[in-house]
Amino acid sequence: MTQKTPTIHPSLSVADKVILLTGAYGLIGLTLAQAFLQQGALVVLADRDERKQAGIRAELATEYSDNQFLLRNLDITQEESCEEAIRSTVQKFGRLDVLINSAAIDAKFDKSHAAEINPSRFEHYPAELLRQSVDVNLTGTVLMTQAACRQMLTQGGGNIINVASTYSLVAPNQGLYDFGDGVKQFKPVDYIASKSFIPNFTRYVATFYARDGIRCNAIVPHGVLNDHDPDFLENFAKLSPLGRMCDREELIGPFTFLASNASSYMTGSVLTVDGGWTAW
Ligand SMILES: NC(=O)c1ccc[n+]([C@@H]2O[C@H](COP(=O)([O-])OP(=O)(O)OC[C@H]3O[C@@H](n4cnc5c(N)ncnc54)[C@H](O)[C@@H]3O)[C@@H](O)[C@H]2O)c1
Repeated sequence: MTQKTPTIHPSLSVADKVILLTGAYGLIGLTLAQAFLQQGALVVLADRDERKQAGIRAELATEYSDNQFLLRNLDITQEESCEEAIRSTVQKFGRLDVLINSAAIDAKFDKSHAAEINPSRFEHYPAELLRQSVDVNLTGTVLMTQAACRQMLTQGGGNIINVASTYSLVAPNQGLYDFGDGVKQFKPVDYIASKSFIPNFTRYVATFYARDGIRCNAIVPHGVLNDHDPDFLENFAKLSPLGRMCDREELIGPFTFLASNASSYMTGSVLTVDGGWTAW
């Protein structure tokens, strides 16, 4: 008997799918955009950080044709901007198969971002920062999803993937941010407040549109490695069942699965990719 060449199951393919990523110039967004391009998807990278656009465009152009990707300025807190991102996606690629809501404000503890974090304890945390995060992470995600749903209803279906966080599911263990140097740091409440809504919003959209061919699921990443201090890595390793942070490449498989037809019977699901963080 001749041996058949092993192939990846066709349902896992995202080739020719039109995928719009918000927050596409960020750590996770750009990793995913490049991975989807590599797999033959047609990708729209949308983000509000205009400074990065030219560099990313030049980098992508060395590997992919202009027909395969589009870069868009997008501010998800502005309805017209969301509408415009969808309009230009449809203008270029004819439809929108997958929306990935990755844009967010997130206080990060890697070396280049730690200094930006407001050090206030909860009882003194500024309301203004809370409002900013809610505006982007909550209201912005809703506005972008509304604009995508209007298009998906017109074309007869679509697929939405929300990016949640372990802090959408559990409280931060503030011990992670205590490096024993007498300087107390905290994961702030604005992130927790604004990301907690993602799982239930995912279920809301999933059930609202289940009979319209629009699926909606969420992914829960946690602790993506990005030039963190050894002290942080040590704390993280102690608290994580897998004993380490997530390599950004480890998110590609789960996102590809949800973006592909392999997940066609999934809607309203929250897929944790957290090294077991929420398992104990
Ligand atoms: N990095 C992690 O460890 C981690 C862990 C869990 C969850 N997440 C979630 O993953 C998603 C992506 O995280 P990341 O690490 O890539 O973050 P990031 O900060 O690297 O990227 C976020 C991107 O969103 C963009 N953005 C912010 N506000 C915007 C707006 N109003 N309109 C359009 N774009 C806007 C920023 O310009 C940035 O490019 C976020 O939703 C975050 O909450 C990240």
